[in-house]
Amino acid sequence: MNQDKRIHVILDQKVSLIEVLNGNLILDIGGGGEGVIGLCYGERVVAIDPSKEELEEAAEGPLKVVMDSRNLLFLDNSFDIVTSFFTQMYINKADHEKVFEEIYRVLKKDGQFIMWDITIPKYNNGDKDIFVVKVKVETPLKLVETGYGVLWKNKEQSIDYYLGLGSKTGFKVINKEINDQIFKIIFSK
Ligand SMILES: C[S@@+](CC[C@H](N)C(=O)[O-])C[C@H]1O[C@@H](n2cnc3c(N)ncnc32)[C@H](O)[C@@H]1O
Repeated sequence: MNQDKRIHVILDQKVSLIEVLNGNLILDIGGGGEGVIGLCYGERVVAIDPSKEELEEAAEGPLKVVMDSRNLLFLDNSFDIVTSFFTQMYINKADHEKVFEEIYRVLKKDGQFIMWDITIPKYNNGDKDIFVVKVKVETPLKLVETGYGVLWKNKEQSIDYYLGLGSKTGFKVINKEINDQIFKIIFSK
């Protein structure tokens, strides 16, 4: 089947990254691809991604390390901030709990875990089996227009799913926002 016919697309979602993130060192989970967090916060960022190719694609600035968030090779209490910018949607549900535990472990006390992701309804078994979101990201440097897509089956997720995971891991919720299909959660350790 023609690839376009397989795509269920959510258009015109907007994220603003104009805000200043306090603290010093930022660990960005899945920081390859557009590498938006690295683009915004440069040398303060350690961008990890299991894909060397995705890291090579991302803008220069952050320290880029090939690493899987299921097994973060950092000491406990290492980072002021951990970010996940449309990365959890790419990680298997069976691995989310381990990833959240690893993020909690490497965050400093009172450090923040900030995540942005997309509400994905349950796959309806239709011909459109690829779920894509088109996002416009306002950064201090430029407007980034990009798209993030996954095979839809078993990928349903919501802000409540991640709030539940956070609470199970021991995080407190500092702030949560829903903007159309996109959500942002700020957790603190
Ligand atoms: C499309 S990118 C997300 C967007 C990216 N943060 C940006 O700013 O454009 C998702 C990334 O998650 C990575 N990823 C997949 N599984 C991962 C895991 N277990 N740990 C960390 N990153 C993972 C993928 O390799 C991919 O580069």
